[in-house]
Amino acid sequence: MKRMLTVEDLARDDRFTRIRIEDAIFDPRNANVGKRENAFRAADPESPDAARQLMHSIFVGEIQALEGAGRTCYDFEVGKEREDVPFELKLDMARQCWDEARHVEISVKLTEHMGTEIGQFAEQTLLFEAACNADPVLRLTGVNRALEGLAIDVFNTMRDFGSETSDPVLFFCEDWMLADEVTHVKMGSDWLRKLTATDKERQAQALEFQRTVDKLFSFGGFRGEDEDNPIHLARKFRGMAGFTDDEITELVDIAAEAKRDAEAAYAAANV
Ligand SMILES: [Fe+2]
Ligand SMILES: [Fe+2]
Repeated sequence: MKRMLTVEDLARDDRFTRIRIEDAIFDPRNANVGKRENAFRAADPESPDAARQLMHSIFVGEIQALEGAGRTCYDFEVGKEREDVPFELKLDMARQCWDEARHVEISVKLTEHMGTEIGQFAEQTLLFEAACNADPVLRLTGVNRALEGLAIDVFNTMRDFGSETSDPVLFFCEDWMLADEVTHVKMGSDWLRKLTATDKERQAQALEFQRTVDKLFSFGGFRGEDEDNPIHLARKFRGMAGFTDDEITELVDIAAEAKRDAEAAYAAANV
């Protein structure tokens, strides 16, 4: 079987439509980014649609997380060289595949519950693209710490939204998936520290890759600590998943920077 599949190799049926992340972020319909309201408040008339769109993007993210963890099980040899991985890392990835497959099933049922059809919203594939990194440490840091870290923030926010809207199905789906994502992020944190314990340069590269992915996935102000950021950083769960206080503070700064960049881009486009 071929190793290192590209994003073009992913199997999707004709219900799925792809979109580039730049198009999603710089969609002109987001032109009010500077005065963006947090849509995930029960009283907001936009909140049901915002929640449906977000949970559909989580659904496609779960598919890609399964594909990415599956690739990481297969793409690398067991060994001690830089391009190899420990057998225990493969076991962690196999466990993650099991979890992500369950999350896909949960997400399909949740999507139906919320009144959404599969493919109703477009799929962007940055998660799998981060999972194509040829260095296993960079791959795990980008996917498990940045992207699964974002999943923690999203599930925590949507769990609160489920509670606020008295929707026990949404609440329990989010609660169960959140518990697994904390484990997945912790795997990323543990392997990053273990595999780079004697190679600080590689650790720095991995953290830089994580910062790049984190910035892209802050979606120009989508995630942050302010009231008007739709998705808030789940500090407690990130701490449980191996993020230090300094790393969480840095993430807040990255999110704020992403918001400033997006506002500047809109301002430049609308001169
Ligand atoms: Fe997941
Ligand atoms: Fe995950």
